[in-house]
Amino acid sequence: MTSEFFLTGGKNKQHSPLLLTPGPLTTAHATRKAMLRDFGARDSVFIDITRSIRERLLSLAGATETHTCVPLQGSGTFAVEAMLGTLVPRAGSLVLVLVNGAYGRRMVEILARLDRSYIVYETEETMPPIPTQIEQLLSHRQDITHVTMVHCETTTGILNPVEHISHIVARHGRLFLLDSISAFGALPLDVQTTPFTALAGSAGKCLEGVPGLAFVLCHRTALQEAAGQAHAISLDLEAQWTAMEKNGQWRFTPPTHVVVALSTALDLFSAAGGQPARLARYTENCRVLIEGMKALGFVPLLPAALQSPIIVTFHMPTAPAFLFEEFYRRMRCHGYVLYTGKIARKESFRVGCIGAIEPEDMADMVKTVNHVLHEMHVLLSTE
Ligand SMILES: Cc1ncc(COP(=O)(O)O)c(C=O)c1O
Repeated sequence: MTSEFFLTGGKNKQHSPLLLTPGPLTTAHATRKAMLRDFGARDSVFIDITRSIRERLLSLAGATETHTCVPLQGSGTFAVEAMLGTLVPRAGSLVLVLVNGAYGRRMVEILARLDRSYIVYETEETMPPIPTQIEQLLSHRQDITHVTMVHCETTTGILNPVEHISHIVARHGRLFLLDSISAFGALPLDVQTTPFTALAGSAGKCLEGVPGLAFVLCHRTALQEAAGQAHAISLDLEAQWTAMEKNGQWRFTPPTHVVVALSTALDLFSAAGGQPARLARYTENCRVLIEGMKALGFVPLLPAALQSPIIVTFHMPTAPAFLFEEFYRRMRCHGYVLYTGKIARKESFRVGCIGAIEPEDMADMVKTVNHVLHEMHVLLSTE
């Protein structure tokens, strides 16, 4: 039996494994089916689809009046790099980067590579930034021009206090740049309650499109002022915006199939009840996962108060018979793709709660974990 064609029960029973990862994710059949049609870049239907996607993404953040949505070819990192490269001037700026995981560190790496000035405020990977300390930093360092942070730090699954920090940044008159790649569409985010200058998101995460397209929701004035500032032609958000506003077309070859898949994914998103419904489903996926895994003896890294419903990190069991490679391989054979850990100091592994998966898929997955533990003769303590 090949693992490609085997999957234990669940509503999403299908001929491919369930991807319980931070992406690429399990997608709905209709989303994949949308990609069976070819579109020309100048096709008026395709131009309408692009326009509609941009409008829908903007309105999801309540940002239609003030911001624009600039879609970009590529993965989430492309959008983050484009956001930083376009909106942070080469001279006279200083970015405060809030770091508590790999994606915060990636923003530091990008800024360093782009030769933009920055300072880092770093907390442990299991600790969110402390708002009062950010307040103090902004009061004392008048030279800070931008603050950037990660919404859900996917390294651990920690939920960062973006709303609180966005208000502090706004009160101090600085620009707020947010990496919401792994959270946008599921976690509530409205520009009225979380004022942001720019937000980077991705088609292939909580919106449940396929990978290959990212976007930045950008304050229009800030984007206009950034003309000519970007370090790279293909990552110049202002140029991408200006060109798209002229005739609705993409500057360079658009990922047409990915765009139409996102359009269908957004239709499904709205039909299912939008962001609140998505959050509710992921929250239930997460609850079933954590409760089930705890009952088997696995220990989550984060306390419940800091855990986002996006991805869960578990400590690596120390039982001698538990070999992660073997566990992973057996789970894969049963149709579940798990994810390795990314935290710096301890051995861990991760299980994603996002994508077109339902709580019953999670319940089946937990049953399979139990089965695999028996196969491997692993007994974990449930104390
Ligand atoms: C918070 C966050 N930022 C950035 C990225 C980078 O996205 P990509 O791997 O699509 O480039 C990810 C990917 O999981 C992420 O979770």
